[in-house]
This record gives sequence, structure tokens and C-alpha cells, in this order.
Amino acid sequence: MKTVLPAFDAAYWQARYDDGRDGWDARGITPPLRAYFDQLDVAAQPRILIPGAGRAYEAEYLHQLGFRQVFVADIAPEALAALAARVPDFPPEHLLLADFFALPNDPPYDLIVEQTFFCALDPALRPAYARQCAHLLRPGGTLMGLLFDTDFGPVQEPPFGGSKEEYREYFAPYFEFRHFETATNSLKPRQGRELFICLKKK
Ligand SMILES: C[S@@+](CC[C@H](N)C(=O)[O-])C[C@H]1O[C@@H](n2cnc3c(N)ncnc32)[C@H](O)[C@@H]1O
Repeated sequence: MKTVLPAFDAAYWQARYDDGRDGWDARGITPPLRAYFDQLDVAAQPRILIPGAGRAYEAEYLHQLGFRQVFVADIAPEALAALAARVPDFPPEHLLLADFFALPNDPPYDLIVEQTFFCALDPALRPAYARQCAHLLRPGGTLMGLLFDTDFGPVQEPPFGGSKEEYREYFAPYFEFRHFETATNSLKPRQGRELFICLKKK
């Protein structure tokens, strides 16, 4: 029998923020993303999307480095409000209160950053996630970030786990795999349990 999950909609996520059930929130940028951002070329001013951004410490960090084409998307108002409060000069038009799956690709992005968004979605949406990332990126654009490579058990709400082998199937139709290995610099509670991915759109 197939389990039917409830909708993890804007109300669900806003309630998790309101109730403080936000265990995913690292309260700062995580080491694997910081290391990757530190070697990006700021002069190129890539167009960067952080979907399911939450409180978006990554956007704050990129903004501090001088990246000015950073967009964050989230369906929970709390997430975007937190970034706006911490970084008053972050462009308000780059705060997208929107469903990731409905975002337009005009113009397309150079880079999409993933961290604990994929695992927040109903697993049935995983093929659509890979397809939408490809849709939003220019050819040669990059999807990078972290995916949990662990089993959280038979849970009824996020985070949902999975495996490297499972994920490979979703991304292979659209992306070349540049890196798809266990991260070496994860936060301590996530050590050995997340993949660092860097995929190039075909
Ligand atoms: C587990 S949290 C992760 C937040 C952030 N990436 C982090 O690492 O702190 C998942 C986030 O995705 C957002 N979200 C869930 N479904 C979404 C959707 N369809 N479109 C945009 N954001 C979504 C939620 O509101 C929540 O802020």
C-alpha cells in the first residue's frame, strides 16, 4: 500500500518556523558551501538561485562577497523576512516568495545552490525537482550543494532521506556529474551522511 503524505505547503513550513521546529537551520553558512563559494569568480557576477532557501545564510555570505545576482526563493514568508532583517541592503526584488516548481527560467540561472531543500520535498517530487533545476539553468549551468545520503527511517514528514544510487537516476537525464561524493567537510552531525554534488547541465 502506498502511503499518501500530507501537503507540505506554505502553511506547513510557516508553522514549522513559528513552532521552532527548524532543526535543519545551521544558524550560519555551512563549511562545504562556504568553501565552494570562496572559489567562485565574483567578477563574473553569476546569476545564482537558492531555492527553498530558508533563512538563507548562503545568500548573506554571497552578498558579503560581492555577488549581486543572488536570488532566494521560498514559500514561507518567515524565511525571506529573516534574510531581509539581517541584510537590509539585500535587493527586495531578489526575495522570491514563490513555489520553486513555478519559477520561470527567463533569464536562466548560472548556478543553483541546494541544501536541505531536496530532502524537504515529498519524495514523489524528486524527478520533477531534477527537471525543474535543469529547466532553470542555462546549458552548462551548475547545480551544486548537498544531498543527504542517509536513511531517516519511515518518517511521515521532512526530512526524507535517500541514497546516492537513487539520486543518480533523477539527475542523469539532464546533467553531467562533475562531483557526486560524500562531503569531506560537513557539519559534525551531518558528517558521512551527505553528498557534495556539482552537476553541469547538458
Ligand atoms: C528544510 S528547510 C531548508 C531551508 C534552508 N535550505 C536551510 O538549509 O536552512 C526547507 C525550506 O524549503 C521551503 N520550501 C518547501 N517547499 C517549497 C517549494 N515548493 N518552493 C519553495 N520553497 C519551498 C520551506 O519553506 C523551507 O524554508
